[in-house]
This record gives sequence, C-alpha cells and structure tokens, in this order.
Amino acid sequence: MRRISTAARHRRPPVTAAALAAPPLRPPALCSVVEAVREQVGKGIHLQQNCGISRPLVALIEKLNANTPAELTKFFFNCTGTEAVESAIKLARHETGRQNVLHMKGSFHGRSLGAMAMTTSKYAYRVGYGPLPAGFHQVPFPYCAQCTCAKPAGGGCCGYPLQQIHETLKETSAPSDTAAIIIEPILGEGGYVVPPPGYMRQLRALCDAHGILLIADEVQSVSRAAGGRGCAGGARERAL
Ligand SMILES: Cc1ncc(COP(=O)(O)O)c(C=O)c1O
Repeated sequence: MRRISTAARHRRPPVTAAALAAPPLRPPALCSVVEAVREQVGKGIHLQQNCGISRPLVALIEKLNANTPAELTKFFFNCTGTEAVESAIKLARHETGRQNVLHMKGSFHGRSLGAMAMTTSKYAYRVGYGPLPAGFHQVPFPYCAQCTCAKPAGGGCCGYPLQQIHETLKETSAPSDTAAIIIEPILGEGGYVVPPPGYMRQLRALCDAHGILLIADEVQSVSRAAGGRGCAGGARERAL
C-alpha cells in the first residue's frame, strides 16, 4: 500500500498508509536481509514506533523519501499488507468523514474482517466468517479479457467499468457517503490483470470529481517484477 491522496481541490499532504509487503526474496537478496536482521538484533530490537524511533527506521524513511514523489511526506509502517489496507480505510474514513468504500471484483486485500469484506478473488477467504462489516460495495475491475463490450480501436478502456462505478455512485453509495475507491493497480490473485491504458487516470479523475480518495493497494504489484516503484500503475501510468 502506498498512499492516499485527496481530490486536487482539497489537497493535503499525502499519507503513506504503509509499507511494502515483500515479494518472495531469493538469494543473494535473502542473504543480505538475513545478515541485516542478525546485525540489528545484536544492537537493539525494534521499539514500538510511537515509543521510540530507531536509527534503521530513520534510514529507511530517508531512503523512501528519496525514492518517492516529493509531495509524499509522511510514512507509516505496518507489519503486514492487511494492516496497511485496514489503515488506509481508517485514514480514508477519518479524512473524508464518509463511511463507504468501493472495491473491485476479484481483488485480494487480506484476511482481517475489513480487508476480507473487500476480498472477492475467491470465497474461501470469507466463507463461514460472516457477517462482514458493512459499507463495502463491489464494482468491476477493468478486466478486458472478460468484458463483453466491443474493444475500442487503438486500445484503451471501453468505458464499461467506469460507467458501473458511476452507476454505483448514483444507485447504491452516494458520493457524499463514499470515502474511497480501492484498487490493486495490477490485479493479483484475481487473475494478474493489467488495466487498459488510460484507465487509472480516468479513475483518478472520477475520484477527484467527487472528492473520493483513491487507494492503491500495491502490496503485491509494487514488486520490481511488476514495474518497479509502484505509484499506482508503476512506470506505465502514474495515477496518484
Ligand atoms: C494485493 C494484496 N493486498 C493485501 C495483501 C495482504 O498482505 P499480508 O498477507 O501481508 O497481510 C496481499 C497479500 O498477498 C496482497 O496481495
């Protein structure tokens, strides 16, 4: 999870909801991580962030700061991707004073109750655990291979998934009740799908038009294999 940003007209410093749930490491990267952990444990064990700030944490913040967009000025660290998602939802509700969240069909966001309410990649994650928290509404992911609309000449999105979001905002979750739309910029468990060109920017514009926050769950897609530094769409298309 990288960051939440407000509509342009209410722009406040963006907040990083959390860090990078690491993709599997292979040697030698794994060896250097093990080595760093060993060395750090010899010097001192992690302190709760609100009690004390350790040097490695400061060094990490400095590195992130140097490698993320300049307007990103706050970093908040979690232990898991699920916590990052939960934090993003809390921040979005707090920031906007609105309660609902739209999430994409086929997404995976985690296994805690809130994250599970937004996870529809398969029912195994939710069966037997209900009722799930209210306020979460599903909209289609731009999954071109499954879309029955005619493909526009020259590529791009046919418009159907965005139209469905407009309809949800008209029929189910009023913009004034909608805190955020959450998306995996590259759908993971739900099929490893990259949205069509232009989609992320259009989604950003839709959010801005209604003062809705756009949350990019990049827990999986931020990995280098998917394009490197993240920022909602990676090098292909920055939407945040
Ligand atoms: C997109 C996405 N969000 C959230 C999570 C949850 O992360 P964690 O398993 O670290 O809680 C995952 C885990 O794979 C993920 O792929």
